[in-house]
Amino acid sequence: MKALFQICLVISTVFSLSAQADLVVYTDRNPAQFATAVEEFEKLTGEKAVLVMMSNYKAIVDRLQMEKDLTHADMVIIKDLIYFKDLKNKGLLQGFEETSVLKTVPSFMRGMNNEWVALSMRARTFVYNPTFLSRSDLSSYDDLADPKWEGLLCLRTSNSSYNFALVSGFIEHYGLEKTKSILEGWMANLAQEVFPNDTSIIQAIAEGKCAVGIVNHYYYAGMKDRDPSLPVEIAFANQGQGGVFTNGTAAALLKTADNKALAQKFVEVMLSERNQLAISAAHFDFPAVEGLQPNTLIKEWGAFERNPLSWDVFADHLSEAKSLFEEVGYN
Ligand SMILES: [Fe+2]
Repeated sequence: MKALFQICLVISTVFSLSAQADLVVYTDRNPAQFATAVEEFEKLTGEKAVLVMMSNYKAIVDRLQMEKDLTHADMVIIKDLIYFKDLKNKGLLQGFEETSVLKTVPSFMRGMNNEWVALSMRARTFVYNPTFLSRSDLSSYDDLADPKWEGLLCLRTSNSSYNFALVSGFIEHYGLEKTKSILEGWMANLAQEVFPNDTSIIQAIAEGKCAVGIVNHYYYAGMKDRDPSLPVEIAFANQGQGGVFTNGTAAALLKTADNKALAQKFVEVMLSERNQLAISAAHFDFPAVEGLQPNTLIKEWGAFERNPLSWDVFADHLSEAKSLFEEVGYN
């Protein structure tokens, strides 16, 4: 009973905060990442923006579906592209205006009708132990399915949005059959049972338990920032072969937004150079805006080729990806 009372108290507090705000954003990210943008938006417009943090995508979508037209929410900021297709399919989104500012984000990182626009970008790529390998030994995701990698590969459990997005992208890029054979090869090459998260893979590589793994670059960047002597290096996959697969955090405009112009303004403020660099630095992400250089250690990794598949398109293959994981026994 006490727990229920506390939950009601939290919800009503959030409701009253949201009710006072001019722009309300539901997010699964830490609002601190957007603090400079919020401050600038409020100074420019004289309006108040509130970012309401929720535990994950499910909490956000459940809340939106419960509140329906009564919601105060105008926008969402979510950490994985695969969820935007779901919001769109549920009829919860409308498009931002395709202004010149919006167009600084490459079209593959925006919804078909600008229902969502990326705020930051990440690569899901190789990390390796330089005692065992050199960068030139690594080439493509499909090369890691070759028997020469037997007993050397470490992977995260398939049950994560990061791997659903990656393999959904593979299905679009390589086709279903080839993707299946890549996953079968990966399973045959595992050094040990799949890991619960990306950081435990990086740790295992540092300890020499595996030679190579696939992770989101920012987990590696964060660990390398804390410990520059970490014996793990990064390499971008598929260079000269279509580019590394990317994903990112994006903002989407809800149909319930009562002031579309204000939401547009907030997105455009988040896309300014200053705020892009702040958003990027807070999480070791790459800026979403084309041509901007990050100002953290990731800038030392240099330029790299990104796969230009539309994030909107490859989220269509999620159920096929799920079936493939089951078929090949990728837990
Ligand atoms: Fe993450």
